Amino acid sequence: MAQEVLVETDGSVGIVTIDRPQALNALSLRVMEDVTAALGGFDLNPAIHAMVLAGSPRAFAAGADIADMKSISGAPAADKALAHHLSHWDAIGLLKKPVIAAVSGFALGGGCELAMACDMIVASETSFFGQPEVLIGVMAGAGGTQRLTKIVGKALSMEMHLTGRRLTAREALALGVVNRVVPIESYLSEAKKLAHQIAAQPPLAVQAAKASVRHALDSSLSEGLLFERQSFFRLFDTQDQKEGMKAFFEKRKPIWTGQ
Ligand code: CAA
Repeated sequence: MAQEVLVETDGSVGIVTIDRPQALNALSLRVMEDVTAALGGFDLNPAIHAMVLAGSPRAFAAGADIADMKSISGAPAADKALAHHLSHWDAIGLLKKPVIAAVSGFALGGGCELAMACDMIVASETSFFGQPEVLIGVMAGAGGTQRLTKIVGKALSMEMHLTGRRLTAREALALGVVNRVVPIESYLSEAKKLAHQIAAQPPLAVQAAKASVRHALDSSLSEGLLFERQSFFRLFDTQDQKEGMKAFFEKRKPIWTGQ
């Protein structure tokens, strides 16, 4: 069987590419297993400091694979068949190192949810985002109703989930769904550039900041402030804190060790 998820490294950036063009990168059980395994492997690899998750120029991913779901009947059967599959989106949201989604073309259903499970999104001008599950008789099941609502607010999230309305790349930028919109020729190189920029920072500080920002999506302000304060204090146990502050006064570039 052909490989549908490609894995490579570029210096300290790990790159995972979904390559299933015949189905617009529909996220089958196998594709999601492979994506999660590859990103999880990079998360544990000390030589990798940031990751890029990409699809193709035509489709980041057109959703979970409808073929995997069409003959499931009954909630208990759906739970048995899909719970493990859907847990892959959760697993990506729990990675310690930053993941940049490089999105072009369709980011629909589980594809939109996959992009939102990443930490940042670099989008091509041709990309659009939507949760069209209602059009096939279901609803989002991999985090869309929760993640999209936290980003765009109740009114628009309702409209997208209840009608299948898609956002253009420009709308997604204006609403804070994506970090930047660039021409299709450069969306992948821009995503890699952003990943390299992050990978050049002290890794423990990057991971602590990522965890703290993510915590904000899931906690009250007072809990979040406590979490941030504790994370901030813990960084004073690192060599990179000593090095960063010393280098500042010596007016030189710091040399990070990740310790
Ligand atoms: N699952 C399986 N196959 C898919 C797919 C999906 N999500 N999306 C597209 N494909 C397949 C099509 O069946 C088609 O295959 P064949 O050539 O063998 O017929 C191929 O990809 C190309 O698709 P189209 O011919 O439909 O291409 P198009 O340009 O006319 O339309 C599209 C593109 C608008 C994205 C359309 O394919 C579409 O609507 N796809 C489904 C989108 C969707 O409903 N996504 C949500 C899935 S459910 C989900 O994700 C649940 C969840 O929350 C986890």
